[in-house]
Amino acid sequence: MPDYMFLLESRLSPEQRAAMLRVQELASVLGFNVYLTGGTVRDLITGANLRDLDFTVEGNPSKMARELEKGGAKVLSEDEKFRNVELLFAGDVEGSISAARDEHYVRPGTRPELRWSTIMEDLRRRDFSLNAIAISLNPASRGLLLDPTNGLSDIEHGEVRALSIHSFTNQPVRLLRALRLAARMGFKLESRTQEWFNLAIERELQLTITPEDAGEEVRSLSREERPQLILKEWEESDLLERVHPILAKKHPGYDAINRLIKVRDDLYMAGFRPRLATPMLLAILSRLKDRELSHTLSKLGYRSAEIEAIEKFPEKALDIQKDLAGKKTKTPIEAYRYTEKIPMEYVAYLLAESSNSVALSKLKAFLHKWRPVRQALPIVATELEALGMPRGPKFDQIVQDVFAIQLNGRAKTPEERVKILRKLSGIKEPPKKKEKEKKPAKAEKHIETPAEKKAAAAEKHAVHERHKAGMKAAAAKHKSKK
Ligand code: CTP
Repeated sequence: MPDYMFLLESRLSPEQRAAMLRVQELASVLGFNVYLTGGTVRDLITGANLRDLDFTVEGNPSKMARELEKGGAKVLSEDEKFRNVELLFAGDVEGSISAARDEHYVRPGTRPELRWSTIMEDLRRRDFSLNAIAISLNPASRGLLLDPTNGLSDIEHGEVRALSIHSFTNQPVRLLRALRLAARMGFKLESRTQEWFNLAIERELQLTITPEDAGEEVRSLSREERPQLILKEWEESDLLERVHPILAKKHPGYDAINRLIKVRDDLYMAGFRPRLATPMLLAILSRLKDRELSHTLSKLGYRSAEIEAIEKFPEKALDIQKDLAGKKTKTPIEAYRYTEKIPMEYVAYLLAESSNSVALSKLKAFLHKWRPVRQALPIVATELEALGMPRGPKFDQIVQDVFAIQLNGRAKTPEERVKILRKLSGIKEPPKKKEKEKKPAKAEKHIETPAEKKAAAAEKHAVHERHKAGMKAAAAKHKSKK
C-alpha cells in the first residue's frame, strides 16, 4: 500500500500542511475523529493540483471553526443545517470542514433526512466512488486509506462510477457533476452509470435541477482548469439549457475562455498561480449582454454583492489599463511599482482582453523582464556588501536605485554594476598596487615548520574541495537552466 501520509506531506504546500496540522490538533483536543475526504483525496491520488482541503469530522465542526478564527482563519460560510464550514485558512489556504452525515431518502428525489454518522456511512452516501475515499488523520491510524466503495480501482480504470441506482434521481445535479468530473479527468462514465445517466435524461430529471444547484456547478466550472471541455459535454447532452437557456442559446464564449487559458499558462510559467474564477466566469458568459449577465447570475443564486463585483470587474480593469497607458507609469520603475500591486486576476484579464499596446507591453515587460531582474536583486546586495558597505537604510536605497537603473537596461554585467555601486555609495577603488614589489631578501625567507606545512596542506585541500563543490553547483545550475 502506498504511504498516503508521505504522499500528503510531499504534495501539500507549507501553508496547507500547517492548516492540516492545526485541524488535526483541534480535532484531537475536542475528541473528534478527523479525515481528509472528497476532492482532496481524489486529487491527491490522481496527482491533480490540490486546490483545497476538505475535512470531515465525526462531530460538530462549529467549535473548531471558532478556534480557527481565533488563529486568523476566515469563515467564508457556515451551514448549520449541514454542519458545514467553508474556510480560508492562514496563508490563503481554501478548505472546508463538514460533519460526517448519512442521508436517508424516504422516496427517491425527495429531500433527504439527515443523520450524523460515522465516516464510513458518510462515504457511502456520496455521489461517485472516486469521491468516496478518505485518509485518516487520527493518531492511531494516520495515513490509513478508507475506500469502502473501491474508488481507487475506478480511478485506475479511468471511470466515474455512481454509487447507487438512485444517485441521479436523488440529486439530479449529479448529471452535471458526472460530466464535469469525467471531462476534467479525461475519464468515461462506467457502463452501468452511463445507463443510469441515460435513463435519468429519458425521464427528464434534468428539468428538476434547481437553479441554485446549477449555480454551484457554474461556480465550480469557473474554477476549472479547462472549463471549455466541460461546457462542450454539457452542450452535447443538452444540459447547458438547464444551467441557463440564454447561455445555451448564445453559447459559451469559447474564444474568450481559450485566450484566458493561454494567458494563465503564461502566468504559470512566470511563477504565478492566480485565481481566475471571476475573469473565467466573464469569459464563459462573454456572449451575454450586460442585462442578460446580471439576470443569469441572479437566477443562479449569486448574491447581489457578488453580481456587482463581477459586473464591475471589467470597469476596474479599464481603469488599470488607463493608468498603465498614462503618465503615472511612464518610467519602467514607476510601471513596475504600479504593476506589482495589481491583483493577478486583473493582469490576466487585461492580457487576454486588452488591445491597448502600451498597457500590454508594460504588463509583459513586468512578467518576463522586470520580475526576473527583481528576483536577482540579492546579487546586487551581495556585490555592494563585498565593496564594504554596511547594511542599513542607505544600503537598501542604493540597491533599489540600481534596480531602477537595471530596468532601464543598464548595469547588466557585474563590472558595470560595481562601477555604479561605487559611484552611488562613494566607496572609492583601492589604490593600484605598484607593478613590482620588492622581493624579500633571501635571508628573510621564511622556513615553514612541520605544523605550518600541515596547515598549508589542509588549506590547499579545503580550497580544492570548495572548488570541486563550486564546479558541481555550477554544473547543476547549468543543467537545470537547460
Ligand atoms: N457530493 C455528493 N453529491 C453532490 C455534491 C457533492 O455526494 N451533489 C460529495 C462528493 O463526495 C464530493 C464532496 O461532496 O467529493 C464535496 O463536494 P464538492 O466540494 O462540491 O466537490 P469536490 O469533490 O471537492 O470537487 P471540486 O474539486 O470540484 O471542488
